[in-house]
Amino acid sequence: MALMMKSSTMKAVSGRVSRRSAVVVRAGKYDEELIKTANTVASKGRGILAMDESNATCGKRLDSIGVENTEENRRAYRELLCTTPGIGQYISGAILFEETLYQSTKDGKKFVDAMNEQNIVPGIKVDKGLVPLANTNGESWCMGLDGLDKRCAEYYKAGARFAKWRSVVSIPHGPSLIALRDCAYGLARYAAIAQNAGLVPIVEPEVLLDGEHDIDRCLEVQEAIWAETFKYMADNKVMFEGILLKPAMVTPGADCPNRAGPAKVAEYTLRMLRRRVPPAVPGIMFLSGGQSELESTLNLNAMNQSPNPWHVSFSYARALQNTVLKTWQGKPENVPAAQAALLKRAKANSDAQQGKYDPAVEDKAAAQGMYEKGYVY
Ligand code: 13P
Repeated sequence: MALMMKSSTMKAVSGRVSRRSAVVVRAGKYDEELIKTANTVASKGRGILAMDESNATCGKRLDSIGVENTEENRRAYRELLCTTPGIGQYISGAILFEETLYQSTKDGKKFVDAMNEQNIVPGIKVDKGLVPLANTNGESWCMGLDGLDKRCAEYYKAGARFAKWRSVVSIPHGPSLIALRDCAYGLARYAAIAQNAGLVPIVEPEVLLDGEHDIDRCLEVQEAIWAETFKYMADNKVMFEGILLKPAMVTPGADCPNRAGPAKVAEYTLRMLRRRVPPAVPGIMFLSGGQSELESTLNLNAMNQSPNPWHVSFSYARALQNTVLKTWQGKPENVPAAQAALLKRAKANSDAQQGKYDPAVEDKAAAQGMYEKGYVY
């Protein structure tokens, strides 16, 4: 009897095992390239220039300096950014909006080629934006999985080597379990699809700055969303050596009266990362999320005062571009000064990536906050 039970159990087990081994686990075709790309982006003293604002958001930026939101003006602004002389020393990757991936400089050089010449890896925003999540208190979910494999294959052909998908988590609007799960599941499915097309996925569940919550509440929510995200990424067989993360820093909400300085932000953020992120992940590339240029650089510097298991760096949009835009004003004669402003910010963050940033070099403009309630990207 005992023997019979044993053999039937064995049969069941072996049946299960043989069925499993028939399943294709991962294509793995791009594994080596993914690891190489991720490590190039996460290279010492360098970070990402996020310049992937949608046409609507780019329009808002241009509007702030009185420039019309036309395709040509968006192109001219992006040319200014990615042709800044010497920028490749501090910038390892640039995230583009789809329109920009196919654009060229005034002289006819593809932006992608201009970037590669400076050893900057071209990246592409692949999500399709946020929409309301039904039956929640105003939370949202991120669209873009349908047809994503085909789009990724096209982007790879056009020269992109990494991708970005930004989903958000709102503390004042929730976060509900269903919103957290949906955010994590979407990111994991995207990451698996991107890797299978040769693109390193940047995984970005942005915990928004909005709210009155304190830093402890932010830590709790960040731990929750990263736990879910890594669980679903593991389930989807995402290769952790070939991803990059783009977290928000752990800070008090924008309307919390108890503010936190760089030492506290660094302590909380590193605590969260150590608890949730395996050392297999090559790089943590923070978003700036509405912090001022100065604040985001000081916080990054504080996180690099002792060695970390991952490259801890930046993937800023607003905190790299604010002064650049104001300096440019849409005028060709201001391009060199605007490029100098970008180089200065990029160098400051490069220093911060290595823990050796000196804020004495900054002027007042860098301290100006960029927080905007309910900001959409
Ligand atoms: P900010 O640095 O302006 O928050 O932008 C982050 C982002 O997701 C852009 O890719």
